[in-house]
Amino acid sequence: MWILGIESSCDETGVALVRADRGSALPVLVAQALHTQAAMHEAYGGVVPELASRDHIRRVLPLIQQVMAQSSLSLSQLDVIAYTRGPGLAGALLVGAGTACALAASLGKPLIGIHHLEGHLLSPFLSADPPSFPFVALLVSGGHTQLMQVDAVGSYVLLGETIDDAAGEAFDKSAKLMGLGYPGGPALSALAAQGNPLAFALPRPLLNQPNLDFSFAGLKTAVLTQTLKLGADLEQRKADLAASTQAAIVDVLVKKSVKALKQTGLKTLVVAGGVGANRALREQLQAHCRKLGARVHYPEPELCTDNGAMIAMAAAMRLSAGVETPQADYAFDVLPRWPLAQTPA
Ligand code: KG4
Ligand code: ZN
Repeated sequence: MWILGIESSCDETGVALVRADRGSALPVLVAQALHTQAAMHEAYGGVVPELASRDHIRRVLPLIQQVMAQSSLSLSQLDVIAYTRGPGLAGALLVGAGTACALAASLGKPLIGIHHLEGHLLSPFLSADPPSFPFVALLVSGGHTQLMQVDAVGSYVLLGETIDDAAGEAFDKSAKLMGLGYPGGPALSALAAQGNPLAFALPRPLLNQPNLDFSFAGLKTAVLTQTLKLGADLEQRKADLAASTQAAIVDVLVKKSVKALKQTGLKTLVVAGGVGANRALREQLQAHCRKLGARVHYPEPELCTDNGAMIAMAAAMRLSAGVETPQADYAFDVLPRWPLAQTPA
């Protein structure tokens, strides 16, 4: 079965083709194409929703053509068209959903709307070292920070989440305060490599609370205060502040993930979402999981941030698990706010 996936929830237009065979084998990624709008939004220091929607419109059809050309398949050979139904920016989501619906209707093929975070969550199944169920998932993106217990495809129990900013947002906002580029996560983490993570004592809210919730809003206030105080040896102090900020975020994510593993008794951790690309986070999770006798799985680095492959993959896995019935009435909607635990199983 051939599944085309279209992602357009934020500032990346992603299209990919996945092949799912009958039996126990995992679906495989056959072709993919991606356009990131980061350079366009950089001038504004964040995503401008209207510009994002317009750019998705410009990019989506050429990307579909690119993916089809890579695969040497014709559109009529597709079996299912999947798109990101939410959560995300309403106008941006509508571009992917409208395109997917028009394509499916013109081909007479069924349509599946996928939860963006389910895509992130299942993306490690496309890696060379896929996990197996059940596992704890740490979802860390620009808009979400959640710990989930995942027993099977479609079975997602929320263990804890951020009560204010997301981890990616904490990276992005801190980077902005320090005058680094957009998106801030990669820029801050690159500068952090030259700094001392112990130089500044930054807050780690909720770290010692028994629950699995996170809070990152206080961190940016602390970073602002320290940024204003940066002295003459600016460059080194800035690197130290970047390293200390990263250390504070990573410390909380690691300790809460370990707590979730202990609490559930599970021995597998899956890390997904853009912040999962962070090297310090990966190294520390690796070290802590090894101590616990647990294993940690990631998507391939290029599939950590938004992409079409994770959407096609989630559709393929939902279909093989029998938790999804594709629709063929071509009435579509988008859900800009959509809790993952409410995804039908
Ligand atoms: O999953 P994603 O591509 O988009 C959302 O669904 O939000 O995540 C984007 C987030 C941004 O906040 C970005 O700064 C962060 O992931 N990010 C990183 C790194 N690469 C991306 N944060 C820290 N370190 C990185 N290397
Ligand atoms: Zn995402």
